[in-house]
Amino acid sequence: MCGIIGFAGREQAAPILLDGLARMEYRGYDSAGIAVRSETKGLQVKKAKGRLQVLSDLTHGGADLEGTLGIGHTRWATHGEPNDINAHPHVSENGQIALVHNGIIENYLEIKEQLQRHGVKFTSDTDSEVVAQLLEFHYNECHNMLEAVGRVLRRIEGSYAFGIICSDYPNALIAARKDSPLILGYGENGNYIASDVTAVIKYTRDVVYMEDGEIAVVTPESIDVFDSEMNPLEKKHSQVDWDVSAAEKGGYAHFMFKEIMEQPEAIRKTVSPRIRDGRVVLDDVSMTVDYVKNISRIFIIACGSSYHVGMVSKYNWERLLRRPVQVDLASEFRYSDPLVDENTLVIVISQSGETLDTMAAMREAKRRGARTLAIVNVVGSSIAREADDVLYTWAGPEIAVATTKAYSTQLVLMDLIGLYLADLLGTVEKSEYDAILTEMQLLPEKMSHFLEHFEDVQYFASRYFNHNSIFFIGRNLDYAMGLEGSLKLKEISYIHSEAYASGELKHGTISLIEPGTLVVALGTYAALFDKAMSNVVEVKARGAEVLAVTTESFKEKMEKTADSTIVVPDTHPILQPSLGVVPLQLFAYYVALQRGCDIDKPRNLAKSVTVE
Ligand code: M6R
Repeated sequence: MCGIIGFAGREQAAPILLDGLARMEYRGYDSAGIAVRSETKGLQVKKAKGRLQVLSDLTHGGADLEGTLGIGHTRWATHGEPNDINAHPHVSENGQIALVHNGIIENYLEIKEQLQRHGVKFTSDTDSEVVAQLLEFHYNECHNMLEAVGRVLRRIEGSYAFGIICSDYPNALIAARKDSPLILGYGENGNYIASDVTAVIKYTRDVVYMEDGEIAVVTPESIDVFDSEMNPLEKKHSQVDWDVSAAEKGGYAHFMFKEIMEQPEAIRKTVSPRIRDGRVVLDDVSMTVDYVKNISRIFIIACGSSYHVGMVSKYNWERLLRRPVQVDLASEFRYSDPLVDENTLVIVISQSGETLDTMAAMREAKRRGARTLAIVNVVGSSIAREADDVLYTWAGPEIAVATTKAYSTQLVLMDLIGLYLADLLGTVEKSEYDAILTEMQLLPEKMSHFLEHFEDVQYFASRYFNHNSIFFIGRNLDYAMGLEGSLKLKEISYIHSEAYASGELKHGTISLIEPGTLVVALGTYAALFDKAMSNVVEVKARGAEVLAVTTESFKEKMEKTADSTIVVPDTHPILQPSLGVVPLQLFAYYVALQRGCDIDKPRNLAKSVTVE
């Protein structure tokens, strides 16, 4: 979703702003802009619809804009269509104040009407411009930018991260946040603000995570942070511990492919530190046996692929824990008057840790007395900081919009937590516990082995890429895995695709199967393999072309019926989706490649969805 960068320093700002925006391209956007202040030229603003390259060309890589203080933005349209005018930065009517904004101002219409009554003229359709104009209004009253920002923040409702510059302040930019991420970066040649660390990692690893309600004044020499009452705050610094190369393609054509290939290592990093002497150790979680025994209900709440991890975990956890586990979409949970109390454990899963729906659902669960445990990839993100407990997936930065390694690490981490809880409850046999842990430690090796033959999947993608509608079918864990395979395919290849529980086909969907329809049949779940095969026979009988994914154990049987078969290594049944999902990711990737799609930045999508 939208990305903010700001720089106050001793170098030309524009190239740094463009570079920071390029590093946040993965978040998703449809227009971009920068504003730079110089002593001689005042505020200079350039904005352009489309890819960042358009803006870069327009400004000759930033060389046209002189000045060492500036802000930049990539916009993902919410209020008003994507065009040059609605792009950020927005400038107040007198041209003195420029502002970039992430989030949504809910009461903007009311404020706009009020300002219009004072004769203020608006040029864009955005809620963000209203804030720029309101700022000018208050600045004209008090002639102090910090005071004016305070007045604006007290007046607006909604979510925001702001970066603000004013031509009267040659060295300072002002930042503020509420419900939208913003970090402060301390560099040698100046200081930064950014929506995420990827934008500034090239320049500094020394960062501070801003909290809701905080305001920062950033100059080349210092950063001062204040609370909403303008009291100065001492902030804790964090050191970013991953390398800049982790957020670069490193010779791969796409981040998505690189991240698929990184999965074995990401799983190893997530699992290894949490197994000691044959036991699961979750150092960061402080649940007592008494607490766990009193859990009456477990909710897993997430969006998109993270929700699909929840679907797999529901099957696995109910099997291991013998407790009811409900998986809810975060956007549904929060408005469903959920049956949550202090004996409810709520697990929230989020790669970014910034997904607004998930965050709001977590707050709702906490408000109702539940204990919350967050599974998050981005260290220091909002969800991680607000949850009662947090466990990180050590996947490293995930840049492609389509998640792969974050999904895989979430999956294994959820399996680990399931085992940990089952052990506390005494609901898992020791032999089963040991078998799962042993197999979990073998997953990276087995996955690497499969990935060595990625061309096999490429071959099937080249055979099937021109289908316009594809069905994924499977039972139990295979159904949950199919949901992810189908989402992966549709988000990056734009092929219509649906995932169904195989047994449900005959209740309606089978009418869509006609000669030549491609069905991806998932048959990796041993306990229901024969049942799954009956459904494969059913769709074959109606003319479907079947591409199957199965395990070494069932290869022979599957090959007798399916048109094409992809075989993944066997593992413990609970862990099978960790291996089964890999060919589905590769299939989506190669189909999208064949169709010439923009794989890392699919249309209309954003990496972190910070609006409702
Ligand atoms: O950052 P989160 O895990 O909270 O994001 C949730 C979804 O937006 C995300 O999984 C989305 O579905 C991905 N693009 C799927 O590849």
